[in-house]
Amino acid sequence: MSAVAVVTGAASGIGRATALRLARDGYEIAMMDLDDAGLAETATLIGEVGGLARPFTVDLCDPLAVGSVTREIAVTVGAPEVLVNVAGIGLAATVLETSDADWNRVMAVNLTGPFLTIRATLPLMLDRGSGVIVNIASVGGQVGLAGRAAYCASKAGLVGLTRAVAVDHAREGIRCVAVCPGTVETEWIGKILSNAPDPVAARAAMAARQLDGRMGSPEEVAAMVAFLAGPEGRFVNGAALVLDGGMTAA
Ligand SMILES: NC(=O)c1ccc[n+]([C@@H]2O[C@H](COP(=O)([O-])OP(=O)(O)OC[C@H]3O[C@@H](n4cnc5c(N)ncnc54)[C@H](O)[C@@H]3O)[C@@H](O)[C@H]2O)c1
Repeated sequence: MSAVAVVTGAASGIGRATALRLARDGYEIAMMDLDDAGLAETATLIGEVGGLARPFTVDLCDPLAVGSVTREIAVTVGAPEVLVNVAGIGLAATVLETSDADWNRVMAVNLTGPFLTIRATLPLMLDRGSGVIVNIASVGGQVGLAGRAAYCASKAGLVGLTRAVAVDHAREGIRCVAVCPGTVETEWIGKILSNAPDPVAARAAMAARQLDGRMGSPEEVAAMVAFLAGPEGRFVNGAALVLDGGMTAA
């Protein structure tokens, strides 16, 4: 029987690439996302490479729904060995531009969502005596990004949650690691660029933020997750690994 990996945000971008990569590596994938059409597309892509994936449509901010979907996954797919929290949203705003509703939404998706999936999944991992949790944070969890106040706060919170889970559960066989990508070319970035007054100039500016002069690919982030989830990553725990083409080195 294959090990089970749960991937949130698997309908798009980094989540889709991660689900596909882990399926190629032999995991059976349980995918959580709000977007059922996107999940169906990811399931098709995984099927095409001979992998196994089950979609679960869920709002990750809803504690009851996350609890019941996690129990359903445990019964119908199996207890997860790996949980990858990828789902997230952005908000382009300073503190002064951020409404209460926007702040609460960003925190709910980017920080409460991972808290809920971890709280629901940890008991299943503890029963097995092992498990790896990878949280996709951001360089915004490491440094301040201009005009991204709530986003940076949510991702710094996720890095803190990662460390706390590692400290509390390392001796019970659990590893918890954060990955902090720089700009990664996904549907999310595509939307930002297509809404810019000059999409070509905006694209060049986004690429130039990385020392490498290009954006990362979702597959590069997925490769890091695969390393962390597998036996070669077993000495990494409680860390926040930056994957940003040198963006934060300058
Ligand atoms: N793309 C980047 O440049 C970049 C850089 C650093 C970090 N990240 C992080 O990587 C993660 C994925 O980003 P992406 O670029 O692939 O984004 P994306 O928009 O392509 O995918 C995000 C996915 O999360 C899902 N989602 C959002 N809210 C949800 C909710 N409440 N319940 C269930 N699913 C929900 C969306 O439906 C979508 O499928 C995010 O956490 C983001 O903060 C992205």
